Amino acid sequence: MKLKIAILTGGGDCPGLNGAVKWVTKSVLDPKLVEKRSVSFEVIGVADGWKGLVEVDPDDPKSCDRYLKRLDEEIVRTWDRYGGTNLGTSRTNPFNPKNDRSEKLIDNIKKLGIDALVALGGEDTLGVAYKLHKLGIKTVGIPKTIDNDLTGTEYSLGFDTAVNVIMEEIDRLRTTAGSHGRIFVVETMGRHAGWLALHGGECSGAYIILIPEHHFDMGKVCELLRERRGREIKYSIIVISEGAKPSGQHEFLRNGKVDEFGHPSLGGIASYVAGEIEKQTGFESRHLILSHLQRGGSPSAHDRLMARWFGIAAADMIINEDFGRMVSLVRGEITSVPMKEVINKLKLVDVEKYYDTERYNGRRSIM
Ligand code: F6P
Repeated sequence: MKLKIAILTGGGDCPGLNGAVKWVTKSVLDPKLVEKRSVSFEVIGVADGWKGLVEVDPDDPKSCDRYLKRLDEEIVRTWDRYGGTNLGTSRTNPFNPKNDRSEKLIDNIKKLGIDALVALGGEDTLGVAYKLHKLGIKTVGIPKTIDNDLTGTEYSLGFDTAVNVIMEEIDRLRTTAGSHGRIFVVETMGRHAGWLALHGGECSGAYIILIPEHHFDMGKVCELLRERRGREIKYSIIVISEGAKPSGQHEFLRNGKVDEFGHPSLGGIASYVAGEIEKQTGFESRHLILSHLQRGGSPSAHDRLMARWFGIAAADMIINEDFGRMVSLVRGEITSVPMKEVINKLKLVDVEKYYDTERYNGRRSIM
């Protein structure tokens, strides 16, 4: 028996996606393992996430060429070294109530003879995979989001590389911040969860870290900066999540647009904070939005390793017919959790456990 597996990547790209696609493909096609199994597989990479599976016309060879690519061990051999997603991605939501294309999606899956589907994504992409699972399509999820805010897993692909980008850029900023004696406010991604700002800020020794889970008081930020100046320290680095909010205010929006899952595009909080610091303290301040640099470049060693393990685990789940679940890392072990538990609930920073609301920084007591 031969089964057809489709793989797609959805939502924001990040380093580690290509590695996971490689290891799903290699594991299901591995000639040694194939000998031991009663089934063999064919692997199809779908271009542009859910958009590809919605827009492909199974009866049109040109459209199939555009959206579907047969993957084999030779094609994916070097993929784990590269960031982004070679399959392409989109934020298409086939179940968007304003433009529901789920019927077309399910029809295409059936017409194409897809027996199982591996979806690599965050809450939105996996939410679609879960809805398909409930409708009888065999799906497996692999967690990715640089925000690391997926419930049910300690790790999501892309996070480690992004934290490294934050650390490296702050290392660079320090020399210029120090030379001029300036305050630098560095904005990271993280719509709802402050993991990127917290871990990025902690490992780069930021003086202040501001996260969405704890609304901050601008006056207190200025007080902390004055206190530090008083200790003759010339410059300070503040790391702030894009979704952080000053007390009594909403998150800062980049523009009025929302994506197909209803998420607004965030941005601008760092500029506001830098402006307020200058106004309230007179300290010269600058801001920097790290933006998509955090999702760029090649994967860190940790992301390559996790991509490999997550990819292999997803292949095992297909072989074991363990559908409707997402590969996950729990207490350092690779396992899986029902997708149902992953959606509609984000993994936020536990302020009491990890955040010091007096210092506006990571806690200094861990045990
Ligand atoms: O992948 C999640 C995320 O990193 C968010 O933190 C951020 O708001 C969003 O992506 C931005 O994505 P894009 O501009 O690519 O739509």
